[in-house]
Amino acid sequence: MRIVQISDLHFTHLTWNPLRLLSKRLLGHLNWFFSRKTNFSYEPLKELPSLFQELNVDLILWGGDFTTTALFKEYEEASRFIQQFPQKAIAIPGNHDHYTYRSFREKHFYQFFSNPQTSPFTLKEHSLEIHPIAPHWHLIALDTARPTPPTSSRGLFSETLEEKLKHALEQIPKENFVILFNHYPFFEQEHSSRNLDRKEALRKILEETPQIRLYLHGHTHRHAVADLRPNQLPILLDSGCPVQKQKATWNLIDLLPDTCEVSAYHWEDSWCPFRKEKFLWQRS
Ligand SMILES: [Fe+2]
Ligand SMILES: [Fe+2]
Repeated sequence: MRIVQISDLHFTHLTWNPLRLLSKRLLGHLNWFFSRKTNFSYEPLKELPSLFQELNVDLILWGGDFTTTALFKEYEEASRFIQQFPQKAIAIPGNHDHYTYRSFREKHFYQFFSNPQTSPFTLKEHSLEIHPIAPHWHLIALDTARPTPPTSSRGLFSETLEEKLKHALEQIPKENFVILFNHYPFFEQEHSSRNLDRKEALRKILEETPQIRLYLHGHTHRHAVADLRPNQLPILLDSGCPVQKQKATWNLIDLLPDTCEVSAYHWEDSWCPFRKEKFLWQRS
């Protein structure tokens, strides 16, 4: 099973409709003009459909932040982009996809993105999905993104979601391994305004559930591969951001019953691997 983990595409459309700007979106637009516009390049995305085909990718995990201010035009562009990929796909929203209270309340993200239904739970209704993705491997996808006040991009691992996650883990055969897929990391970030609220509760589940072998996230726009097993935590993969100039990245993951090999790709006039790591597990 060959998987791509990619996140934070941030398709952007600017609107001058004052009704659309009476929200956090005004700040999002200013942020785009003064920062992101010069830091982002969408050119590297054009190569991805053919490259993923050449690499024989089976499954693409889209880790959220498809949009910048959750405008319909941005969802449409993101949706058109991901439709170019014939591979199976699982998509979760990021904070930019639930950017305004209205987009969150009316679940705009889910009008454009839905995953194959493989369990009674759906991200749209339960903020959680379970996907059997390979022999002996399950993936649990979470929606922890929330609309927030203008200067915050915090998410929430709610008490309700905590209970659902514990229940979901009980459903998965004990001999199977689990990948947890969430837009947010579970650790403290440089700016606390970007943290996941109740991240300690999520971390406790990770510490108490050795069955969870990989934790996949985005949101930081900083690539990372960290083996946290000495701390009773999973291996952590941050795919970074594929449109961030000078540090555009994503991960290729080869998953076997007892091993996983991670090849990190970055952009240097074309996409090339820059780091490879292999992880082994003992099955009891
Ligand atoms: Fe992002
Ligand atoms: Fe984010």
